[in-house]
Amino acid sequence: MKLLLLNGPNLNRLGQRDPAQYGRQTLAEIVSLVERRARELGVEIVAAQANGEGQLVDLVQKHASDVQGIIVNPGALTHYGYSLRDALADTGLPVVEVHLSNVYAREEWRQRSVIAPIARGKISGLGWRGYLFALEYLVNDLHPVEGNRP
Ligand code: DQA
Repeated sequence: MKLLLLNGPNLNRLGQRDPAQYGRQTLAEIVSLVERRARELGVEIVAAQANGEGQLVDLVQKHASDVQGIIVNPGALTHYGYSLRDALADTGLPVVEVHLSNVYAREEWRQRSVIAPIARGKISGLGWRGYLFALEYLVNDLHPVEGNRP
C-alpha cells in the first residue's frame, strides 16, 4: 500500500512558523515520524510539499494512479482552494484532511473548508499527531484488521 502525504503553502516553514499554533517540529521531522510508523504498518509514503495551488494539483494528478489514499494539509488553501478540491475529488481516493492547529478556535474564516466535503474526515488541533492518526485511519480502512471491521 502506498499513500500520498501532501502539505500545502507555508508548511515548509514549520518549526519556525508560529509555534504556538503549529508546534516546534519541522516538516521534515513530521514526515520522518509518519514514514517510521508507515514502515511498521508495511505502508509506503510519498511525501511532497508545495506552496502553489497549481503545483499541488500537479502532484495529486501525478500520484493519483499509484497511491491508495491521500493525507493532506492544504494550509490556507483549505479555505478557498477549489482547484485543489477538484483534483482531490477527481482521484476518487479516500482523503483525510489534517490541520495542526484547531481551526475552530481561531479566526472565523479558518472554520470554512472547501476540502472537507470531499474528504472522509478531518483532524484538526492535535498537532503533528494528527498526521499519524490519519495514517492509522487510512491503513485500517483500506485493510481492516479482524475485530475492527464496521
Ligand atoms: C493549517 C491551518 C490553516 O488555516 C493555515 O492557513 C495553515 C495551517 C494547520 O495546519 O493548522 O497554513 O492548515
